[in-house]
Amino acid sequence: MAALVPRSDFPALQPSRGKSEVPAYLDSACMSLVPSTVLDALRAYYTEYPGCGGRSVHRWAEEVTRRYEDARETFARFLGAPDPAHLVHVRNTTEGINVVARGFPFQRGDRVLVSDQEHNSNLVVWQYLVKEKGIRLEVLPLPDDRPFDPEALERALAKKVRLVSFFHSSNLDGRTLPAKEIVQRAHDHGAQVLFDGSQAAPHELIDLKSLGADFYALSFHKMLGPTGTGLLYGAPGALEQLSPLLRGGETVAWSDYDAHELLPPPHRFEAGLQNYAGVLGARAAVDYLAKVGMENIPPHHARLQRRVTKELADLPGLRLLGPPRPEDRGNIFAFVLAGINPHDVALFLDEGHGVLVRSGMNCVHSWYRARGLDGNARASFYLYTDEGDVDRFIAGVRELRERIPAPMVPA
Ligand SMILES: Cc1ncc(COP(=O)(O)O)c(C=O)c1O
Repeated sequence: MAALVPRSDFPALQPSRGKSEVPAYLDSACMSLVPSTVLDALRAYYTEYPGCGGRSVHRWAEEVTRRYEDARETFARFLGAPDPAHLVHVRNTTEGINVVARGFPFQRGDRVLVSDQEHNSNLVVWQYLVKEKGIRLEVLPLPDDRPFDPEALERALAKKVRLVSFFHSSNLDGRTLPAKEIVQRAHDHGAQVLFDGSQAAPHELIDLKSLGADFYALSFHKMLGPTGTGLLYGAPGALEQLSPLLRGGETVAWSDYDAHELLPPPHRFEAGLQNYAGVLGARAAVDYLAKVGMENIPPHHARLQRRVTKELADLPGLRLLGPPRPEDRGNIFAFVLAGINPHDVALFLDEGHGVLVRSGMNCVHSWYRARGLDGNARASFYLYTDEGDVDRFIAGVRELRERIPAPMVPA
């Protein structure tokens, strides 16, 4: 099973001086690797037009402004946004969610509904607003071993929810929620919807217009882009209701000593000098993904999932998290090896086999603590992952199990 793209496009996967081996990088759900075209775009900014966009009028500044807005247009086309003005450049998904949460015109007692499997980025800020603004935070339990339960959602929505804020795909077990159905049901009850799209956008074609969500946040560093780059989308009229999180240069049409006029979205949300290099790098990432074709990514992940599942699912004491069908777990293979701490699993795989996986509670502490679990190990794939990577992973997990057999369970 070859990678979906030439691995030679990714400098981190090439042997180099001082690198004794190229690791099997299976932590792409945390952060993906970047192709050289992204590095070229970063370098081009600093070497060819290192200006500050939107301010100066000289040629470098004009060039940056043009490219920065052009990137926004590319993102809009790629994501099916009705207009580039509906997209705000942010640092990451966390910032996008905070822009919505802290800018939304909540009244005391308004309900926000999250699932019980949210990343801290989609939980902590709501807990803060419970104290700060008197909102009520409701948590919808998701069935561990069954598909999404629309009736449970209906019951939660019947309590007059103002905003639903769910993950689209989970970083914990790779499941994807029926996003369109959630939007329709929420809208029928008068609730707005925000999706944490950080794990879905790298792996499936997102059409924001037809999805119909009010807000959608994503991180480009999980989809081949540079670190610290992301987007917040707001449906027509959605961004206008938010009070900007940051205020300052670049956000106003004018100011005098006691007043100012904010620019329309998206610029009112982009305060201060922006990450021009990062945005232009993210644009190169999106160009790369568009060329590969997003529709080719899920079948690639399904092939890798099927291979790993076939080889490991029956290993004694291995508990696989998430949906039973390999193709329903996206790019994530999350597992517990009974009797072995997940960090020890990750250290053994790294030191013994050069396999890099994530371990611990994956920033979803609430879910693990509610179940009394220490966390798990998690391998995650992307378009550069190949059979060699997953075979090293399989061999490492098998060897570890042989060295530390599964504990005997009393009959
Ligand atoms: C489901 C989910 N939500 C939110 C985040 C936060 O993303 P970022 O750190 O890019 O803000 C992550 C990161 O792993 C994630 O997996």
